[in-house]
Parts: sequence; structure tokens; C-alpha cells
Amino acid sequence: MPIVNANSRFFIPAPSVGSVLGDAELAVLSKLIRSGESLSQGRWRDKFEQAMREHIGSRYAMTVTSGTVAVMLAVHLLDLAPGDEVIVTPQTFKATADPLLAHDVTVRFCDVEPDTLNVDVASFESLITPRTRALILVHYGGRPARMDEIMRVARRHGIRVIEDCAHALGALYRGRRPGVLGDIGCFSFHSSKNITTLGEGGMVTFDDPEWAERVDRIRSNAADGVFVPSPLVAGPYKRSEPWMMWAGDSYEKLCLRVRHPGSNATLSEAGAAVGLTQLQRLKELAERRRWIAGRLTETLAEFPHVRVAEVPEDIYHPYHLFTFFIQQGQGTSRDELIRALEDAGVQVQLRYFPLHLRPEWRGRGHRLGECPVTERIWFHEQVNLPCYPSMTDTQVEHLVLALKSALTKRRGIGDGGASSYEEARA
Ligand SMILES: Cc1ncc(COP(=O)(O)O)c(C=O)c1O
Repeated sequence: MPIVNANSRFFIPAPSVGSVLGDAELAVLSKLIRSGESLSQGRWRDKFEQAMREHIGSRYAMTVTSGTVAVMLAVHLLDLAPGDEVIVTPQTFKATADPLLAHDVTVRFCDVEPDTLNVDVASFESLITPRTRALILVHYGGRPARMDEIMRVARRHGIRVIEDCAHALGALYRGRRPGVLGDIGCFSFHSSKNITTLGEGGMVTFDDPEWAERVDRIRSNAADGVFVPSPLVAGPYKRSEPWMMWAGDSYEKLCLRVRHPGSNATLSEAGAAVGLTQLQRLKELAERRRWIAGRLTETLAEFPHVRVAEVPEDIYHPYHLFTFFIQQGQGTSRDELIRALEDAGVQVQLRYFPLHLRPEWRGRGHRLGECPVTERIWFHEQVNLPCYPSMTDTQVEHLVLALKSALTKRRGIGDGGASSYEEARA
């Protein structure tokens, strides 16, 4: 039974309510509503997309309805064929890999680095075969993956790289932004993300004009396809038939072979207007996350059985997630720590259950043991703490105290993670 109840100012909910919205967002919404302008596909979407292009440095930045749709479209643009292979990180939200379930391709899950939970370059390289077409990675928690090394390997083998940047808006990697480091960037503006477009929203970024045309068709109810000679030309119909007269040459000679049906998947004007306002506040929001992460990092530095990944100077980490690791068999175990934090009113959401062990992927032959580092870290070591800009100073200090107290306790009942590991093996 938690000691702090949900109405207390010390209660710290998991960050699904992380967005910070205020007068600026209200003002822009009021302006939009009073303008009487269309609420769909208008100038706010154009403005937001232009601002994102400038921020990211990509030639195209196209809004869609969610990060999930962004990854689905990115995977579609790869034109995967049966028998192709795609390498994916297993340490991410399911939307990073789920679109591949709809394709007849072989998926290989690569392991991650034990401190950053980003793609391990050696593991990625070891999985490449002549059929490998793409790598889908996430910048875990907002910290950019080792993109220079990854892209060197990918280019050498002709592999496309999709960056899932759902956590990484605001990040910098050696002076460049995630979203232009690979071939396609996918962003989410869900309310828990670094900025929000009023709860839901997403974006794809890339440089290829043909991809832009394809995405634009799909998101606005026109199918993506290729025009091919019409079967009618060779068919039983003659141009002289009356119903063909008005249809013209294009109907007679060409038809569309559809690669993806059209959908309605663009952002509303209200979402885009709020997104633009939030983008202007991105630095302030990221700095608040970074300040909280700094408090947590200095607190954890006192405990030798705990490790926090160092962040090199050429990376700006926006701390969408704050993650640290507990050494097994020394002092408080990971599971004991989480129970103690929950008792103190701190909701802990572990992100993410390894994808290859989810039922949909086990159903395609994936098994425990496939990604040993990911599994060890997830079942025994990893802790994610609340770290989002709407946390009050009181909540942050409460979290610091709760953390210190939980880590100081040495209950001596060994490693509480073992049972869940065994359960997963079943
Ligand atoms: C890594 C990652 N990719 C994709 C998504 C999907 O984004 P959305 O919720 O906007 O569909 C999320 C959302 O949580 C995410 O964390």
C-alpha cells in the first residue's frame, strides 16, 4: 500500500501527463478559433512544418497524426519485398517495430549498449546479410545513438536507416539534429513527449522529394502508386464508346497501381498551432528536464552500486527519459528499489519491455537469449525515474529523498529480479 496517496503534492505520477501548456498555447488557439479560418490543412500546418524544417535541418518535415503513423509511413517508403531483412532495436516502444509485422520480411533484433540502451554497433554489424535492407533505431530516452559509426556501416552495406526520434526532439549530436542523421526521421508529439501538438501528432523528416510526394498523397486521401498503362487499352473497350468520351486520355491510357491506399493522416490546425508555440519553448522545456536529470545524477553519484551513463560534450541530451542501472547482488536490488519508490508515491514506469519477447514477435520465432544485454538490463538493472518539465520543485526534492532512502536500505534478500526473469523464460 503506497504511503503517499495520489492527492498528495508528493505523489509523482508517471510522465504521461508531462506536457506544459499555458498562456502562449491558449492565446494561439484563441487566435485560430476567432480567425474563422479552416481548421484543416491550413497555414498553421505550413508554419509548423517550416519551423521544424529549420530546426531539424531537413528538406522536408511533414506532419502526420502520430509517431506511430510516422514510423508506418517510413517503413512503407522503404518498398520492402518478401525475403528482405530489417534490423531493429528491441529496447524501444512497440511502435518502432510494429509496422514490420505487416510485411513479409525477416526481422533481426540487435542488442543494445548496456549504459545508453542505444543500438550496439557491433551487434548491428554482425546481423547484416546480403538481404538486409534497413535498420530501425531509436535514440533511447532522447540520447542520440552512435550515428557516425552506424551510418558508416549502413552506407558500406547499402542499408537505409530510419531514426525513431520520438524522444529526441531538441537533442544535438555533434552539432546536428536527430532526424537528419539517417535517411528518415520519425517524431512523436504525444502529450508525454518533448513537445506536444495537443495530445497526439507526429512527423516524418527526410530530403527526398519523391518521398515527400508519396507521403503527401497518403496523408491526404490520395493513394500512393505508380501510373501504369491501362489494361483498358488492350481490353474490350474502344475509345468510341460513349462512356469513355468524357474520361479522356488519362483514363484510357493510364491507371494507378496502388502501393498504399490513401488515408487522412495529417495534423489539425489546432495541433499545428500549439506545436509551433511549443517548439518555440523547446529549449526551456528541455532545460527543465536537464535540471531534474542533473539533480538525480548528483544524488545517484553517492551510491557505488549504481551507474548512470556519462554524456559526452558533443551530445545535448534532452532527457525525455531518465535512466540508471543497479548492480546486481550489491545492496538494494532493482525490484526492491522500485517497491520502495512506489511506497513513497513515486510511480516508476520501466521502459521498455524487450520487443523480441512480446507475443507478436515470439509468434514469429523470437526467443529469450536473442539479445542478452537487453534482457539482463531489463530484468535486473534498469530503472527509469520520473523526469518531465511539469514536475514541481517539491516533487523533485521528494523524489531525491525517496531515492536516497531506498538506496540506503540494505534489506539483504538478494536479487529480486530473478523470479520475473524465470517467468519470461516459461
Ligand atoms: C520510441 C517511440 N516510438 C514511437 C512512438 C509512437 O508515438 P505516438 O504515441 O505519437 O504514436 C512512441 C510513443 O510513445 C515512442 O516512445
